[in-house]
Amino acid sequence: MTRHLLRDDDLTPSEQSEILALATELKRDRFAVTPLAGPQTVAVIFDKSSTRTRVSFAVGIADLGGVPLIISTANSQLGGKETAADTARVLERQVAAIVWRTYGQAGLEEMAAGTTVPVINALSDDFHPCQLLADLLTIREHRGALAGLTVTFLGDGASNMAQSYLLAGATAGMHVRVASPADYAPSDAVVADADARAAETGGSITLYTDPLEAVAGADVVVTDTWVSMGREEQKAARITALSPYQVNAGLLALAKPDALFLHCLPADRGFEVTAEVLDGPQSVIWDEAENRLHAQKALLVWLLQHA
Ligand code: CP
Ligand code: NVA
Repeated sequence: MTRHLLRDDDLTPSEQSEILALATELKRDRFAVTPLAGPQTVAVIFDKSSTRTRVSFAVGIADLGGVPLIISTANSQLGGKETAADTARVLERQVAAIVWRTYGQAGLEEMAAGTTVPVINALSDDFHPCQLLADLLTIREHRGALAGLTVTFLGDGASNMAQSYLLAGATAGMHVRVASPADYAPSDAVVADADARAAETGGSITLYTDPLEAVAGADVVVTDTWVSMGREEQKAARITALSPYQVNAGLLALAKPDALFLHCLPADRGFEVTAEVLDGPQSVIWDEAENRLHAQKALLVWLLQHA
């Protein structure tokens, strides 16, 4: 059966770890494997803006011997005249995989249900699983292992990044803490799924409203924009509600002295994080951004092997 990555817990703990190990190998020897030689084409579709995802998939597909076909939905039939299911049936006869950045998770599910080629979620309103593979790779590079580490996400707990940290962190056996105002808490269903996964791996999930309590003793501190794509009209209310969760030097000092700071980028310096932290010695954001390339290449290789 074709495997897809629509949300982080589509991968079992051992599959996640296999992909991260492969990413490390591919980072060491970038052109070691060329499963897309032919060259085969991979469709990379964007309903929302992107820099990192667009570049890392385009470069990664080329590294693997393939050709990236970047499609903007603004000038395609998808999202207007044609359903995801029909688009999938057209694409599967010509491409090796479909990568899609979109809004609702339901569209991705429809696309995956309708096709025999792997579908990869390149960010939806609910999850950002490709980013989490890169984040976990980065943390592992700096800390050696993931299981047992405590990671604290601060800010919009209902965002794709927070929810992906819950699922992917639990899969990796991490202790995941999310600190947000009650109105911006992660979805109950995602928390329940993350809890179930954590019970298998020895990880744990804890939700907080107090940012100070959430960050105390953490190994890794993470935040993301307060205004995700599609939420722009809520900007003022979000800044007011989320300001107490800003990652600044005072807050970071409550974590372990050598705690890592991650941010998927793009960042709004002075809002969710101060420049002092984002550009400071504990920040590993540039490794994190580079690791999108290696992690996604490993994911593509793995999905093509399991297609
Ligand atoms: N982090 C991330 O997904 O960045 P882009 O929006 O630039 O792709
Ligand atoms: N949460 C952000 C991530 C951007 C990469 C957004 O969805 O806009």
